[in-house]
Amino acid sequence: MTTTPTDTQALSLPLSRAAKHADEQPISELIKMALDDPALISLAAGLVDFETLPGQSVAPIIRDILADPAGAKAALQYGTTEGFAVFRQQLYDHLCALDDAQTDVYPGSADDVVVTTGSQQLLNILAEVLLDADDIVIAGWPSYFVYTSTLTAYGATIRSVDLDEHGMVPEKLDRLLAGLSAAGQLHRVKFLYVVSYHQNPTGITLSAERRQQLLDIVKHYSAKAGHRIVLVEDAAYRELTYQGEAPPSIKSMDDNNQYVALCQTFSKPFAPGLKTGYGLLPSDLVEAVKLSKGGRDFGSSNFNMHIISRAMSSGAFAQHVGVLKRAYAAKIQATLDALEEHFTGIDGVSWTDPTGGLYVWLTLPEAVDTSRPGPLFGHAIKQGVLFVPGVYCYPNDPTRTAPTNTIRLAVGVPNPKQVREGIARLAQAVGQVLG
Ligand SMILES: Cc1ncc(COP(=O)(O)O)c(C=O)c1O
Repeated sequence: MTTTPTDTQALSLPLSRAAKHADEQPISELIKMALDDPALISLAAGLVDFETLPGQSVAPIIRDILADPAGAKAALQYGTTEGFAVFRQQLYDHLCALDDAQTDVYPGSADDVVVTTGSQQLLNILAEVLLDADDIVIAGWPSYFVYTSTLTAYGATIRSVDLDEHGMVPEKLDRLLAGLSAAGQLHRVKFLYVVSYHQNPTGITLSAERRQQLLDIVKHYSAKAGHRIVLVEDAAYRELTYQGEAPPSIKSMDDNNQYVALCQTFSKPFAPGLKTGYGLLPSDLVEAVKLSKGGRDFGSSNFNMHIISRAMSSGAFAQHVGVLKRAYAAKIQATLDALEEHFTGIDGVSWTDPTGGLYVWLTLPEAVDTSRPGPLFGHAIKQGVLFVPGVYCYPNDPTRTAPTNTIRLAVGVPNPKQVREGIARLAQAVGQVLG
């Protein structure tokens, strides 16, 4: 006789392997802590600046779209999976302009552009279409942890490569791939993930010289692997360059549009609420990405694309990028000045010197445990400052142990005065730990 459980609550939910492996993002808890206590200065949240969100320039665009009957119909209807053609051409032209390149020599074409719901969706789709369980992805040590934890949840093994002040170290990438090749594991390596400008979490930009070197290494080992090892270039912070010229994208060096999947977004240089990202991809990858995206949502918000398209053609987008650059440059400078004032002379302390983006990476003496259970975190909360323990930012590489003496400082939310105060409080907390 079959039995029916009377208490269905007792039966477990058949969650997938990926869902079981998806840890809650540690940063969510930190954001909640900051929201619960407004007196706390958050140098933790990866949100963008509230004060500069482009409400003033988006309002008339929305009015114009809706005032024009044809425009309103076009924007309020479903669109195509990849995004409407005029917008994709604008995006392609924008990439060419960023790289100071003529459209006729730039890799790919507007047909190779896919619009997604933020660049996060594109990164996720790339993982889905490129990875089988137990494949290997190579990423920086440290890396953008929201993505690397997603990769782990997909069942990928992450192997990591150190960064120095010029970004990922090519010799170390080469050594890692040579080792995997010697061990007969190269067939498992599917892609290399690089945040090429003002990396989250370190603020480091990959130097121009290393861009070509990484691409050459990927091509070299692709030939040995018998398949292309894709270079996923995440350029989320590209437009937010405050100092000097940003180097050309790795994509611009991908002559035949074969190796580099370039991912960009409007979240950082415009408005994350519009949640619009895009990629310029090798043509054969476009098909796979479109199929996957079709199955998920058959297209991102058409309305948001129309808003951004108009912002690009009217000049409102470019103008807003200028506003953001000035605002963030002041915050990064406030961070660097305050670090200089409060941390100079402490043995074993160093920090990065970003030329853009939202992050500065602070390394403390090895004796200072910055992790959540360590003493510094509690002291910092008592002083009224919140940071992201650097240990969260290291991918889950089974061959390595993450250091516990680093901190990610994010300047998105606080103003320069709060940044200075936050760093002064952090220095107090470090002083308490060092005794
Ligand atoms: C390096 C990097 N890539 C991608 C993203 C995803 O952003 P979005 O999906 O809003 O484009 C972020 C968000 O913080 C990021 O820091």
